[in-house]
Amino acid sequence: MLCSGAVRCQIFPSPESACRAIALEMKALVERRAAEGRMAVLGLATGRTPLPLYRELVRLHREEGLSFSNVVAFNLDEYFGLLPSHPRSYRTFMREHLFDHIDIRPENAHIPSGNLDPGDIGPHCRAYEALIEACGGIDLQILGIGRTGHIGFNEPGAGRGSRTSLVRLDHMTRTDAAGDFGGADRVPSHAITMGCGTILEARRIILMAWGAAKAGIVSEAFDNPVADEVPASYLQEHPDASVYLDKAAAADLRGHLCVEEKQHVLKD
Ligand code: F6R
Repeated sequence: MLCSGAVRCQIFPSPESACRAIALEMKALVERRAAEGRMAVLGLATGRTPLPLYRELVRLHREEGLSFSNVVAFNLDEYFGLLPSHPRSYRTFMREHLFDHIDIRPENAHIPSGNLDPGDIGPHCRAYEALIEACGGIDLQILGIGRTGHIGFNEPGAGRGSRTSLVRLDHMTRTDAAGDFGGADRVPSHAITMGCGTILEARRIILMAWGAAKAGIVSEAFDNPVADEVPASYLQEHPDASVYLDKAAAADLRGHLCVEEKQHVLKD
């Protein structure tokens, strides 16, 4: 069950089966908090990776009555320089794939603003952090991983204690987003992102990765010692972090206990 680091890696036959398990955990959290009369605080990600998770959450809402009326959501990041209404903004992404299809209150769905005057960046980032704290901190943070090893948009070299801030995107990250923008040079050069320190304060973290393109960086992050050059590796130091993989993304993992888990899952 354990990789060579401390992170629990679980390998599933498909992204959909992994996302069913994650969605059930989210459902249990949201319903437990509702029974307690409290809000559930979710940290959410964008990109291709969480799409099957959001489809399953929408299905749970539509078909099984899961309510998000007691959910506060904080997204990890937003491209800098885009209006919220821009077709490629992460605000638009979240509306299209999740928020417009569930009953979360719009005022509870938080995403950093990418549309700020230079003088407003610092105050906006500090206010985002303060709001997370005022909501009691993040119960469950959902993450993808970039091929650079980024979590949020914390690129190689981002410190373990970094906070929400304006960051420069790595060339590889912009290349990976080129298809969405019609060319790498049209991808915004900067983003506002929660910091590594902000992310690591979540009480529980689930990082997801699918497909062969992520296999190398998954192994670098979780088979090797923690390194600033691979910010996702900081999850090894978190007391309750899990990595959910499909078989292709797990293919390069060397941690022997992971391999046992993989065989177990495949046998089933
Ligand atoms: C998105 C985010 C990024 C992505 C990562 C993987 O909010 O913070 O860290 O999770 O770039 O992107 P995809 O899922 O498109 O491969």
